[in-house]
Amino acid sequence: MIEIKGLHKGFDGTPILKGIDAVFEPTITSLIIGQSGSGKTVFLKTMLGLHQPDSGIISFNGKSTADMSINEKRQLKQDIGMVFQGSALFDSLTVEENVMFPLKMFTKQSKEEMLERVNFVLNRVNLVNSNKKFPAELSGGMQKRVAIARAIVTKPKYLFCDEPNSGLDPRTAIVIDNLIQEITDEYKITTVINTHDMNSVMEIGEKIIFLKDGYKEWEGNSNDIFKTDNEAVVNFVYSSNLFKKVRKLYQDE
Ligand SMILES: Nc1ncnc2c1ncn2[C@@H]1O[C@H](COP(=O)(O)OP(=O)(O)OP(=O)(O)O)[C@@H](O)[C@H]1O
Ligand SMILES: [Mg+2]
Repeated sequence: MIEIKGLHKGFDGTPILKGIDAVFEPTITSLIIGQSGSGKTVFLKTMLGLHQPDSGIISFNGKSTADMSINEKRQLKQDIGMVFQGSALFDSLTVEENVMFPLKMFTKQSKEEMLERVNFVLNRVNLVNSNKKFPAELSGGMQKRVAIARAIVTKPKYLFCDEPNSGLDPRTAIVIDNLIQEITDEYKITTVINTHDMNSVMEIGEKIIFLKDGYKEWEGNSNDIFKTDNEAVVNFVYSSNLFKKVRKLYQDE
């Protein structure tokens, strides 16, 4: 479980995150949504420890990151998997080498053990017979699968994904969303996904946190989001013409 209390983060005197409280639980895929610039990536990076918070508490499994020893911080790094915006694979490494990379960095496993684990996760994301290919030889959806395989290869307790389905066609995006949700449930991972994709919200929105200008404006699930009167949420949800039309159809009924 991840608990966030009163989190503030700014840059050069400009506040970006303005006192966020949130709880993320194991086996649940939590979504952080909000318009471009609302602070989603800064929030994720601050939780990851890539940005130092100005104030507030970030705790993993009941332990505040501020109180962690160097060893505990090192352990936490191993417990976290990440899927960055745009996959961020190493272009000069093959699929197999990309996925093996965290194992080489964090474990002392033999080549055979590592390879076994790499093949297991590649199989889990339905990517077989691509071990020796380079990222440039793969489709966008396949690259995301490699990124997910790499993120889960060390059996993380926590999985952070920043716009994991950006640049994919809607159908492939849903396949990737569902894959992340299945893996989260299967391995009891605490997963946090940044997205501004309403399809993701409808498909896997078990828990949704809506950020607006660095505040947590609203929290709920994919059913609540279509019923809320919160003006900011309504504007966000119905910013797509498709949803506007669907809403009108329901209102006309
Ligand atoms: N390293 C940084 N230094 C200064 N300002 C930053 C830094 N990173 C982000 N910001 C600012 O913080 C604000 C929030 O940015 P952030 O990237 O978190 O938005 P976002 O919600 O992820 O948007 P998008 O949907 O476009 O990815 C922006 O105004 C951005 O300019
Ligand atoms: Mg972002």
